[in-house]
Amino acid sequence: MSETKMWGGRFAAKTAESVEQYTASEQYDRELYAEDIRGSIAHAHMMGAQGVLTAEEVQTITSGLDQVREEIESGAFVWKRELEDVHMNIEARLTEIIGPLGGKLHTGRSRNDQIALDFRLYVTRRMNEWRGLLADLVASLGRRADEHRQTLLPGCTHMQPAQPVSLAHHLLAYAQMFMRDADRAGDCARRANVSPLGAAALAGTTYDFAPEAVAEELGMGGVFANSMDAVSDRDFVIEAVFTGSMIMAHLSRLCEEIIIWSNPAFGFVKLPDAYATGSSIMPQKKNPDVAELMRGKTGRVYGSLTTLMTLVKGLPLAYNRDMQEDKEPFFDADRTVRASVGIMADMVAELGFDADRMRQACARGYLNATELADYLASKGMPFREAHHVTGSAVGYAEKQGKGLEDLTLEELRQFSDMIEQDVFEALAYETAVARRETSGGTGPNSVTRQIETLRAWLTSMD
Ligand code: ARG
Repeated sequence: MSETKMWGGRFAAKTAESVEQYTASEQYDRELYAEDIRGSIAHAHMMGAQGVLTAEEVQTITSGLDQVREEIESGAFVWKRELEDVHMNIEARLTEIIGPLGGKLHTGRSRNDQIALDFRLYVTRRMNEWRGLLADLVASLGRRADEHRQTLLPGCTHMQPAQPVSLAHHLLAYAQMFMRDADRAGDCARRANVSPLGAAALAGTTYDFAPEAVAEELGMGGVFANSMDAVSDRDFVIEAVFTGSMIMAHLSRLCEEIIIWSNPAFGFVKLPDAYATGSSIMPQKKNPDVAELMRGKTGRVYGSLTTLMTLVKGLPLAYNRDMQEDKEPFFDADRTVRASVGIMADMVAELGFDADRMRQACARGYLNATELADYLASKGMPFREAHHVTGSAVGYAEKQGKGLEDLTLEELRQFSDMIEQDVFEALAYETAVARRETSGGTGPNSVTRQIETLRAWLTSMD
């Protein structure tokens, strides 16, 4: 009914039922209630300080808003579809509680700057939560790395055995990705945490407002510089969902490793029972469903990113109702990212790494071939030739069904008489790892430094 609409003054006929359904957002934007109320309280305080409201009016409005918040949190609040969105649901209830004074709250404000404020506060809060969850995941990876400094496994390129690395080094590579993701979430928060309040509908307001005071009360880092940009910019949401997409991409890579490693042909990892499921027909199965689902949910977050990028494409300034469609993709991505990061942290903590299987796999892939080539080069043979000689030795060893280190000195000397007894030291997998002490390499001292850096980073995140 037109007379029940807050904006119904110039409307003679009521909104069609189907249109009411179609345009309403209260069923999901109620998620923003806490930010909406915080923003309104800051707006009221600022109006009080600027002499637009009396101190008593401010007091009545803010205690009314506190009551609305309590009603929402206790479940007593009745959300009304016909009131469209979170803003008008809250304002209508405030007016029921405190009377016509409730109508003064919206002075100098539009839902356009109001929603931008609410969503910026909300995204900022979630980005800070992501940072915390990512820190827990990094801590979990760091602990497992610390336990497995001595565990060696085949490092791969092209998914083919390449050179031995420590499991610590492998896990710390993922820790680096998640540290960067946390950094990205922090960047997003910094740009999102800017107040648009005072932009009003699009052109600013005639009232003598102090947007900086609102920003300060809300703990925001600054205020808008252009009112049209303030009400129509949604890049802060897109950046956040991009960050979520990157997090999911990193998680899905780790998931893929867990899936492959848990295949008995690898047998590098035993899945904790709590993170695996059985098959209804094949009794022997233990399936890595959690890792598979996480890999699958990655697509869902990318979908949200695509939705948002498409949403803003070609939108003229300033606010357009299209923008209402920005909430659900963010909420969905946020739920997915938070759940996935949390579960991965717990799963990593419980993965049953099989160090013996990893060590055995090293012996199968000629992972020390580079060491033989380097050994020959260190004795003066040009590397190209050393590479060729080593290739022949690998071909020979393969025919014998042996590793390079299993050949006798005589067998090895068929390929070059530069080879001497000390070759066996060079061929040991431990040596191959231990010699890679350049910064960021897999050598044990380098790994220790990486773990120290990780710990310092975690402390900086507290
Ligand atoms: N529900 C709207 C949104 O999410 C709030 C702003 C509506 N503004 C308007 N003029 N209809 O974008």
